[in-house]
Amino acid sequence: MMSDSATDADVMRLGQPVVADPAWVEAAPPGVEREDIARVIISAERIATRVRALGEIITRAYAPLVVDSRLALVITLRGAAVFAADLARAINLPVELDFISAASYGDSAMTSGSVRLLKDLETNIEGRHVLIIEDILDSGLTLEKLVETLEVRNPASLRVCALLDKGKPFPLRTYPQALAFTGFLIPDEFVVGYGLDYAQRYRNLPYVGILKPDVYMRAESE
Ligand code: IMP
Ligand code: MG
Repeated sequence: MMSDSATDADVMRLGQPVVADPAWVEAAPPGVEREDIARVIISAERIATRVRALGEIITRAYAPLVVDSRLALVITLRGAAVFAADLARAINLPVELDFISAASYGDSAMTSGSVRLLKDLETNIEGRHVLIIEDILDSGLTLEKLVETLEVRNPASLRVCALLDKGKPFPLRTYPQALAFTGFLIPDEFVVGYGLDYAQRYRNLPYVGILKPDVYMRAESE
């Protein structure tokens, strides 16, 4: 538990990602589609512990800011939906939930730099404290564009809470305040579960795991 005298520096430190430890790696527990999972890198229990901690840190950070208002949680569809459902319930402040959906043009291997809004917010975020909830920071491209899109609407503040981070460089990283709350730093591998998909599958797995290569190969030969 954080003390009442937690400073901004404490909040910033606690919001930095926990490095996923290779010693955490385990076989997928019994359950649906476990035969497609090579290994679990973050168990459901470890996720729950970190989500509770993030909820406390966010509560601490925003309690002085949202006295007469509600923290606007902007949830990016579809990957962040599972994380956001748990995180919102770990934040002990009045919140509002809204959803946004963006997609990069073209194929994901060669990102063109343009991002298309598939679904916009219904909330007017002008003057509001806004926290974007993201599933994973990969190239950072989608997030950069999202931040650009929302910033011009003049929120009182705009920050990001991402469950996972692959640690790649992108411009937003030079603003440590923006990426103030992150769950785990993970290796640069393709992961599924806890909201993350491969071809829209695996989002309901309770853990974060790495797919077996033959799942991709099967899909490519279909
Ligand atoms: P970015 O624009 O490259 O940062 O990626 C944006 C989106 O790609 C994320 O919000 C995820 O939905 C998806 N993505 C990136 N890496 C992974 C992964 O390892 N597994 C599943 N989806 C991913
Ligand atoms: Mg996806």
